[in-house]
Formats: sequence, structure tokens, C-alpha cells
Amino acid sequence: MDLGASIGKKHVLVTGAASGLGAHFARVLARCGAKVSVGARRRDRLEALVGALRGAGAGGAAAFDLDVADKGSVVSAFEAAEAALGAVDVVINNAGIADGAAAIDTPPEAFDRVIATNLRGVWLVSTVAAQRWRDAKRGGAIVNIASILGFRVSGGTAAYAVSKAGVVQMTQAHALEWARYGIRVNAIAPGYIETDINAGYFETEHGQAMIKRIPMRRLGQPEDLDGALLLLCSDASRWMTGATIPVDGGHLVSTL
Ligand code: NAI
Repeated sequence: MDLGASIGKKHVLVTGAASGLGAHFARVLARCGAKVSVGARRRDRLEALVGALRGAGAGGAAAFDLDVADKGSVVSAFEAAEAALGAVDVVINNAGIADGAAAIDTPPEAFDRVIATNLRGVWLVSTVAAQRWRDAKRGGAIVNIASILGFRVSGGTAAYAVSKAGVVQMTQAHALEWARYGIRVNAIAPGYIETDINAGYFETEHGQAMIKRIPMRRLGQPEDLDGALLLLCSDASRWMTGATIPVDGGHLVSTL
């Protein structure tokens, strides 16, 4: 199987692509020749990215406003992406937010914000994609960006960890229900990678101590996710569904 060619034929939609991992995923897929649609709330940051994607070899690139917490916005984003670049083949549910408060001090509104983006947002984008694929009688692939905090816990990240555990379970539930439509649903559970979402944390004493507990003794780089990303977006994973792949320098198997 020609892995690069398989990705180069696809139209991939990436949520939350204005920064960090989402922007990186878009660039990696563009270099494989894929058509890449990027959505985020910060549209200004997307325009520069679209230029870079075209320069990197994308088969096409388009940007649109997207708030994953708003169903109307999700539907409009799919319509805009398909009008610009044709039917979407792969969706990467990357948009996410963190909340650094201890559970006991987390107001319900803050909990709701995390769940609305990280869990309900993934649900909304996935169901809109699946309905469109089912109605058009074509398959598709969904790649959810979960976290190792979907499997284990760390102080001060309760709402986030709960949301990501939900994403792991959602990956399995959607995989089970949608295999009949030719839709595959898998996830990547990254370990710690320095981006806007955790900026500053790794300079703290707690952050430095955390890095020492990673068996491979370093933070991840966005490039460390490329193998899992290309596997799950391409036909190389055509018999995989419901899987969540940890990519974390061994963090999940750190000693207790
Ligand atoms: P980031 O903060 O740079 O990127 C998150 C993006 O999501 C931002 O561009 C933000 O504007 C966007 N976003 C937030 N709410 C949105 C909404 N309602 N609608 C549309 N877009 C929205 O952080 P990063 O690290 O790139 O995070 C990407 C994903 O990776 C997130 O789901 C995060 O939970 C996950 N992740 C990150 C890890 C890390 O160490 N950086 C580790 C494990 C998972």
C-alpha cells in the first residue's frame, strides 16, 4: 500500500487549527498532498496557515470560522469546507481547552466550558460528519485527539481528564455504531507536548518534576505524533476502528 498516495487523495478537516498541534497536523497532511480544511475561532491566524499549507504542497487549502461548541457553526463549517474542496474524507477532532483549577475550586461554569469544547464539541463534529457520510453513502475516518489524562489523573486537571476519558469512550461507542456505514473512529492520546494549552507550566518546579517522571525523560514534540496521525488518517489503518493510541514517551507506563 502506498501510504503517502492514500493520504494525498483525501480531504482532511482539522478543528482548532489556529495553533499548536492542529496547525502542525494541517502542515503534515499538506506535505503529503492532502486537501486540508482548517477551522477555528481565530480566523485571522488561519489565513496565514492556509498560505503555508498551499506552499507546502497541499492539494488545496481552505479556512473557515468554526466553534465546535455551536452546532450551527459546525454545520456551516462542513458546508464551507465541502464547497471549497469537495467531500470531506477525514475529520481530526483537535480543538480543546484546559482548565487548571483543583476540582474543589472549579465552578460549574468552568466545568461546563471544558465539557462543551472537549467532549460535546467532539460529539457534535463527529455526528455531523457521520450523518453527512451516511446520507451520501460514502465512508470516512475520524481521528479524535484525546490525552493520556483520559487514562490516568494528575492534580489540578480533573475537568480536563474527565472530558478526555469521555473522548476515549466516545471513540469506542462511535466506532461500534458507525462501522456499518464504513466510518472508522480512532484516537491519539498524546503525552505532554509544549503548546499554548500548557504554556509556562513546564518552567515551573512541578512541570520540571513531571518531565523527570516520563520514562523517555523529555517532553514530546508535535512531530512525535506524525506516525500515529498518518496511520489513522490513511488507508493503512483500514481495519482499525475504536482504538486509542498513546504516544507519550512511555508516560502511561511510568512506575507507581
Ligand atoms: P492549543 O491551545 O494550541 O490548541 C487548541 C486549539 O483549539 C486552539 O487553537 C483553540 O483556539 C482551539 N479551540 C478551543 N476551543 C475551540 C472551539 N470551541 N472551537 C474551535 N476551536 C477551539 O493546544 P494544543 O496542545 O495544540 O491542543 C490540541 C489538542 O491536543 C487539544 O484537544 C488538547 O487537549 C490535546 N492534547 C494536547 C496535549 C499537549 O501536551 N499539548 C497533550 C494531550 C492532548
